[in-house]
Amino acid sequence: MKLRCDLTPTWPLLQSHYTAQGSHLDLRQAFERDADRFAHFSQSAPHVFADLSKNLWDRDTEALLLELAAVCGLEQHRDAMQGGQPINTTENRAVLHTLLRRPAGMSLPGDVPETAARLADVHSTLNAMLQYAEQVRGDAAITDVVNIGIGGSDLGPHMAVRALEEFRAPGKRFHFVSNVDGHELHHVLKAVRPESTLFLVASKTFTTAETMTNARSALAWFAAQGGRDVARHFAALTTNIEAAAALGITTTFGFWDWVGGRYSLWSAIGLPIAIAIGAQGFRDFLAGAHAMDEHFRTAPLAQNLPVRMGLLDLWYRNFHGFTSRCVAPYHAALTRYAAYLQQLEMESNGKRVGLDGRALACTTSPVIWGEPGTNGQHAFFQMLHQGCDVLPLEIVAVRKASHPLPGHQQKLLANALAQAQALMVGKASEDGHRHFPGNRPSTLLLLDSLTPASLGALIALQEHRVFVSGSLWGINSFDQWGVELGKVLAKDIEARLESGDVAGLDGSTAGLLGLLRDGDGWTA
Ligand code: F6P
Repeated sequence: MKLRCDLTPTWPLLQSHYTAQGSHLDLRQAFERDADRFAHFSQSAPHVFADLSKNLWDRDTEALLLELAAVCGLEQHRDAMQGGQPINTTENRAVLHTLLRRPAGMSLPGDVPETAARLADVHSTLNAMLQYAEQVRGDAAITDVVNIGIGGSDLGPHMAVRALEEFRAPGKRFHFVSNVDGHELHHVLKAVRPESTLFLVASKTFTTAETMTNARSALAWFAAQGGRDVARHFAALTTNIEAAAALGITTTFGFWDWVGGRYSLWSAIGLPIAIAIGAQGFRDFLAGAHAMDEHFRTAPLAQNLPVRMGLLDLWYRNFHGFTSRCVAPYHAALTRYAAYLQQLEMESNGKRVGLDGRALACTTSPVIWGEPGTNGQHAFFQMLHQGCDVLPLEIVAVRKASHPLPGHQQKLLANALAQAQALMVGKASEDGHRHFPGNRPSTLLLLDSLTPASLGALIALQEHRVFVSGSLWGINSFDQWGVELGKVLAKDIEARLESGDVAGLDGSTAGLLGLLRDGDGWTA
């Protein structure tokens, strides 16, 4: 039986612990008091080592949080997800992104009866997709791959293709078009030719307005430029093969409604990744994620990295009241990492009602934001060190360089360590401007090198830590009803921009609409 965190007997214990101890924990003293603090709050998981010791918690805090996880039925909920139970209750769907990286034929104790058939389907689709990816990689006539998709159909592939640029096939350029602003597509179309371009139209539903608009414009451009053979130059990655066919796209790779959009880069939505890094690279990417899945499934809660991170997230949000988390990957290829995590965490856990649809008594997702280090240091780190709010920082550091240039890697890693150290130790000064209060928390995630496998594990880690806090909060981390209203209203306003009808609109929207129409018509 699953219980919401704030309804457990452990919740008031955590509250008292926070008041008595947690709220005034000093990290510098905590390290002095506990010689094994680093060892205790370090955690090795597949491909990822985590230093959680520079966070505002101690062993007592963690023991209570672990008790909370047990009382809330976290393990049962995790097993229900990985076993294929329909835990996405508002859409009555299973949540099975872990199945996409499960080796063929592997079964788990709690599997629902249809899992074997689903897994067989996963692998036959994966094999077909990887065969196609290899064919595209070997086709020297295709020089440009343009992914058209938005949200989960853009962020994951975009992040991973950039992150793994060292592993990319030579002779291929990758472009990502997501915005309905024609500026983006127009800019890409100016740079490509129809005979050497492959367009991938990525959309789980194949109804998303931005993607459909861009896909239609790309098809129209292709025809206008004398492009022939849509089947060779357009492929659709979707659960809605019929809608793709209706648009004239017959080369298709499918997936299933039990793959959430923001969890879909492991499915056919990952085709740009597979074209970029090849079939073996994509299999390594899946294997890295699967290794993390197994860690999450089998490690005891106290040595389970996604669990420990998810519990810390809850502690920070509900007890310390921290409203955001800054993410700083110290690898320049992780430029889209923060954007990717924003959707993963904020679309999953940005909810204000529990599974029963009633308002929650506690807060949920923090704001996730960030930029690669060291760039962030010269922009917003000022506020991390000396601002009024405590903003927990999560660093990703990569031990081995992915380039041959001497001297850079030491500087990069020294900066990563120095920032975490400076935030914690601070520096006393009589001059308020030069005073660093310190005691500011950070986590450091360390990869040995940035490879398909380690990236897969890192992403799966992030997926599972989001699951942990969402599960304890008792929310549905797998729906996204909050994005619907704006979509409906945009359709209405689009028609009104044409007609000029402002009847029934609020004063501000009506006024702005009038300004955009410039009084007498829609001319833009
Ligand atoms: O608008 C939110 C959303 O529904 C995301 O959850 C999803 O990843 C994105 O739109 C794109 O959806 P689709 O893949 O169906 O085009």
